[in-house]
Amino acid sequence: MAILITGADGYIGWPATLRVAREFPEERIVGVDNYARRRWVEEVGSVSAVPIASTNERLKAAWEHGYRNISFIEGDLCDRDFVNQLYVTYRPRIVLHLAAQPSAPYSEISGERANYTQHNNTQSTRNLLWGLKENNLLDTLFVETTTTGVYGAPEFDIPEGYVEIERNGRRDTVIFPGMAGSWYHMSKCQDVNNLWLANRQWKLSVVDLRTAITYGTTTDDTAKDARLATRFDFDFYFGVVVNRFAAQALSGFPITVYGKGAQKKPYIGLQDAVDSIAAAAHRQGTGKFEIFNQTSGPVGIGEIAEAIENNAREMGLRVEVEHIENPRVEKEEHQMVMENQRFISELLPNQRVDIDAGIRDTLESLAPYRDTLIAYKDRFVPEQLLRRVAVS
Ligand SMILES: NC(=O)c1ccc[n+]([C@@H]2O[C@H](COP(=O)([O-])OP(=O)(O)OC[C@H]3O[C@@H](n4cnc5c(N)ncnc54)[C@H](O)[C@@H]3O)[C@@H](O)[C@H]2O)c1
Repeated sequence: MAILITGADGYIGWPATLRVAREFPEERIVGVDNYARRRWVEEVGSVSAVPIASTNERLKAAWEHGYRNISFIEGDLCDRDFVNQLYVTYRPRIVLHLAAQPSAPYSEISGERANYTQHNNTQSTRNLLWGLKENNLLDTLFVETTTTGVYGAPEFDIPEGYVEIERNGRRDTVIFPGMAGSWYHMSKCQDVNNLWLANRQWKLSVVDLRTAITYGTTTDDTAKDARLATRFDFDFYFGVVVNRFAAQALSGFPITVYGKGAQKKPYIGLQDAVDSIAAAAHRQGTGKFEIFNQTSGPVGIGEIAEAIENNAREMGLRVEVEHIENPRVEKEEHQMVMENQRFISELLPNQRVDIDAGIRDTLESLAPYRDTLIAYKDRFVPEQLLRRVAVS
């Protein structure tokens, strides 16, 4: 039996591969990636702060630590023949689809990058879905990490996937409309609609994990060996806010809060993210389109900056917080309130990370790489804002 995991070279994908290999030791875990993320980060002039090993080195280290069921195939999921070959060869029982171009700012560099992002993400998903249909694999469970960004920024509490609509005395349940605020996030709205369609047309069992902003450096598995480390990006395009702030604090660059910092957004620690992906892999055979808000809860940007400032001070670092003009088009004071009860009770009953502990861990495990952060500190904010930040 095999489990296919796409995006296996990625920030979440590599630790998820190790976690799933441990969860299902009797099954072959087949990781797939085309190394695009390594190229994108190089293209925007940055590096992973934590040095990452080649796939061969990672697999050798994994083997030495007892993970003996992992294989890796390099290939582009936009290529239908490649996807079909994977299915013919492995006939996976579960597909965990994590491959995507996941950066909103990167998708907005130009029309060409917007096209690339939407084509890459939606074509990969369509190939994977139609591949299941055309290879008689409709009993396979399909899990995708979409994003909480699918919901946009509505002024009411966000449900866990579905909403009931009543009009003129008749009612129906539909999935919450895709109201994404970036070209990347919109690619995931398209994925959601296609996943839902595949479920309605073919009864494919689907788990749509609406993944929140994921932060942190390590998991139980990656912490076992430096060769098992996952990447950690901190640049304007690929560093998510918590990771970027932590890197700024360590490099002596001011923590750059966009606007007033009054926004609240949902988060999840890397360990909790991979634990819940492993739990989602147990939901085969439902015939349902299940949606879970994969978050441990909302946190304010100002609160994150404060927690980083406090923890960094305890480590003897001098930290400044600077409010800069928001380079993103978004509602500045939006408080994203999101239901996540089903997610917590069914997929993450033993939550491990809270934001304060997560930040402390991140700062401590990044500290050995301060020189890299200092060398690349002009990557924290976009070029047009760089000159306005007082670099110390
Ligand atoms: N990290 C977050 O905060 C976050 C939040 C919400 C959703 N997500 C989603 O979770 C998933 C994993 O995110 P991540 O942060 O690990 O991103 P990542 O970029 O580190 O991982 C994605 C991987 O997919 C690979 N990939 C992309 N296109 C491919 C293709 N056509 N063929 C083969 N491989 C391809 C990339 O090389 C990369 O290694 C993505 O789907 C992302 O949209 C992430």
